[in-house]
Amino acid sequence: MLVYLNGDVLELAQARISPEDRAFLFADGLYEAVLARRGRLLFWDEHERRLRAGLTALRIDFSRRIALPGPAALRGVAEELVRSNQLTTGDALVYLQVSRGAAPRLHAFPEPPVPPTVYMTTRAWGGHPPVLVAGGATALTVADTRWARCDIKSTALLPNVLAQQQAKEAGAHEAIFVRDGIALEGSHSNLFAVRGGEVWTYPACNYILDGITRVAVLELAAAMGIPVRLSAIPLADLYAADEVFLTGTTTEVLPVVAVDGRRIGHGLPGPVTAKLREAYLLQVEERAGR
Ligand code: PDD
Repeated sequence: MLVYLNGDVLELAQARISPEDRAFLFADGLYEAVLARRGRLLFWDEHERRLRAGLTALRIDFSRRIALPGPAALRGVAEELVRSNQLTTGDALVYLQVSRGAAPRLHAFPEPPVPPTVYMTTRAWGGHPPVLVAGGATALTVADTRWARCDIKSTALLPNVLAQQQAKEAGAHEAIFVRDGIALEGSHSNLFAVRGGEVWTYPACNYILDGITRVAVLELAAAMGIPVRLSAIPLADLYAADEVFLTGTTTEVLPVVAVDGRRIGHGLPGPVTAKLREAYLLQVEERAGR
């Protein structure tokens, strides 16, 4: 397996990162997970835009490592990495991480600044087992103990890791973060509810990651004439929803049929979810075919 590290493409076993890397010491870094289908990167511009916004928010100067124009150069790197790993016939997941770089452990930024560490891998991606899509997933709600900048795609994912593990041990597929009685998003996905034909999801703000799949699904809903309501989903309303679904690069549009062991709607994937899932998969296929 070939990986990209700071300008070089090399075998994973040969890749070396300093133990003083700030992502290792402080989780001082950002990441993106991008899907590639038949060698085509999907929603690359959106991922790049989010990465740039995160770099700006964290004041990581990417130009110290890669000559700008910029994270844009990473698109070619990602495409080449998918090719060199012979992953151009199916789906592959590209993981990209940028940290502030390696320097002696002091909380404040290194002075003088050091080049960021840029790391990329790609692996074959199988998607969901058809039985999960057909039968629907289950979710467990957990208290949201994350920081108040969930809009930044930081590598600091410990609350997400613990939440997902808790869900897994409870036999659920995803954990849903609840803050002040409001269901916000999953540990690695965005959350939607359908009530009375309306699609609800939390508005983009600092308490959720503004998922690229989330935005794509909202645009599809608008185009299909499905009413959308950007509003908080109180936990009681989540339980009482006709349908619940999750979205994400690796989640696609996934129906949820039970939350905390309570059946959602009829306990089967619902028609609005099915319509949006179909439209989303079609768009992905169109993008891959371009
Ligand atoms: N996770 N919310 C959180 C907390 C996430 O981690 C993710 C994605 C999403 C969905 O975002 P998008 O549609 O842009 O993939 C929402 C990625 C896939 C991960 O951590 O692997």
